[in-house]
Amino acid sequence: MKNIVLIGFMGSGKTTVGRILADQLGMPFHDTDRLIEEKAGMDIGRIFEESGEDHFRRLEKDAVKDVAARGGRIIATGGGVVLDEENVSHLKKEGFLVYLEVSARDSCRRVEGEADRPLLDSPDPESAAERLLCARTAVYESVADLSVKTSEVGPDRVAAEIVGVLRDRGEVA
Ligand code: S3P
Repeated sequence: MKNIVLIGFMGSGKTTVGRILADQLGMPFHDTDRLIEEKAGMDIGRIFEESGEDHFRRLEKDAVKDVAARGGRIIATGGGVVLDEENVSHLKKEGFLVYLEVSARDSCRRVEGEADRPLLDSPDPESAAERLLCARTAVYESVADLSVKTSEVGPDRVAAEIVGVLRDRGEVA
């Protein structure tokens, strides 16, 4: 069975929806951000602070390569994973990519006060989110096998929509 890979911007609900999918489909759940933190022995905020974004991206690349190598998993990714072509090709090889769409405003509202989003740690997080989202949306859309809107929809409904499509397409039993 393929992996179900959740991609999309910060605060789109990849982790929350991923856990629901894992429960419903009886598949193991992995989150690339948590795998990076476990391996580095520190949280993402600190990795950025001490070693910078480039170092974080290298750790992210290793985590993606490891987790994508086997199928049958639900994988939640960090919002910047798809910016690297090699990451995308690893994830696509054994995976069905689901893009969770979110607006900059909802993204900021959902992640407010959380420490693992250094890219939004700015005096004006919504403008920072707008800029990043604008630069990334075309990539998310072009690599996705399925796109699902998450604004004004709870994670249970998002997960139900995904399961419905996956069943229709014969990707899961
Ligand atoms: C990032 C998103 C974060 C985390 C890191 C960088 C990004 O993950 O990987 O802060 O570049 O969009 P979430 O999308 O899970 O918040």
